Amino acid sequence: MPFRVRHSLRWNSSDMRVVIPAQNIYRAGRCIPLGTPVDPLHHAPCSAPDDFMRHAVILGSTGSGKSNTASYLARELSRHASVVIIDWYGEHIDEGDVVIDPAAGDPVPMPADRVSMLELLEEVLDLSPSQSYVLMKVLRDGIGLEELVKEVEYLTPEGRWENESRLALIRRLSPLAYSNIRSVAGGWGDTALGDKLVSVLDLSRVHPVSSRRLVALSMLRYLETVASPGRRVFVIVEEAQNLVKANGVVARQVAEVRKKGLGIVLVTQSPSRLGEDILLNINVRIIHSLRSWADIEVMARSSALGSEAYRVLPKLRVGEALVEYHALSRPLLVRFPKVIEPGEGGEHRLDDAGIREPVDAEEAPPLPGERH
Ligand SMILES: Nc1ncnc2c1ncn2[C@@H]1O[C@H](COP(=O)(O)OP(=O)(O)O)[C@@H](O)[C@H]1O
Ligand SMILES: [Mg+2]
Repeated sequence: MPFRVRHSLRWNSSDMRVVIPAQNIYRAGRCIPLGTPVDPLHHAPCSAPDDFMRHAVILGSTGSGKSNTASYLARELSRHASVVIIDWYGEHIDEGDVVIDPAAGDPVPMPADRVSMLELLEEVLDLSPSQSYVLMKVLRDGIGLEELVKEVEYLTPEGRWENESRLALIRRLSPLAYSNIRSVAGGWGDTALGDKLVSVLDLSRVHPVSSRRLVALSMLRYLETVASPGRRVFVIVEEAQNLVKANGVVARQVAEVRKKGLGIVLVTQSPSRLGEDILLNINVRIIHSLRSWADIEVMARSSALGSEAYRVLPKLRVGEALVEYHALSRPLLVRFPKVIEPGEGGEHRLDDAGIREPVDAEEAPPLPGERH
């Protein structure tokens, strides 16, 4: 393997085991336990791994418990298949059996063919049609980013407009080319992801942000090439709002990738930025507390909660969530066990009561420790 393989202490610690309710351990072999019902008269929900092949979301305001739930799910899903966490802030590195750290030189898989590379760069850099045209002229199969910038610099433009596009393209490409990542055309081959292991792609030290998006999206494309119905892969995408774009890679994968054996779990504070089209394509929804009206409104429209969303979602406590998937007749209130410790940045952002009035997304004051 081209990157560090480690054995996580926390992953196997007795602390982790005691927080899993007994009934879940009992059923863990066959299904994915989705928390413990707050009402003890309800059965604990346990969904089939196949439910996650039709994708999942973990939603909630900052500090509501999304990353903790993501860690918990990563471990449960890894009993059934390979799991990759695309870890925007490096919150999950202690939980990985394998850590892929591009900033420390671990190579990142990039598409080997020029058309896929063009699509990827178009999405990451938001290129205009004329900039894409100039890029297509110099793209070759397997070309590296640094070499690509040089090719654009050396290109003799055919007219004034082409020169302007060329210069704009150089401005956009250069930060990527000189960022701290090393790419490997075509990926690592299909043996790199350990079966039933959790691999964490640590993006926290990859700069600039466009580079982080490039690495994350090329990882998603790569996973699509290695996953198959006989070799299933689950990918958990933290801070998914940074990667989702109408008609982009994530939107397409959520709409069509199920048949290929890749189950995607999107984690985001902002369902309104994911958009209703994506939400409606997703089978398993785990909805932690939401505080912005815009986000609650989207959930009222795109989940079985309907207008109940306005009453319930702002009031959930940290770690509590409404779970919905096809086998449940209506959303079920559950509590997820705590499996991760607070991050170094002091991540307690909702107070424990969690009860707050919803606010306008525009006017919402940042919660303590919020990153954006
Ligand atoms: N299920 C839970 N039970 C108790 N505390 C939790 C739970 N989930 C999260 N927390 C606490 O809340 C803090 C924020 O959780 P985190 O998962 O980082 O939220 P988010 O990803 O939504 O910002 C954590 O550091 C932890 O202390
Ligand atoms: Mg988080």
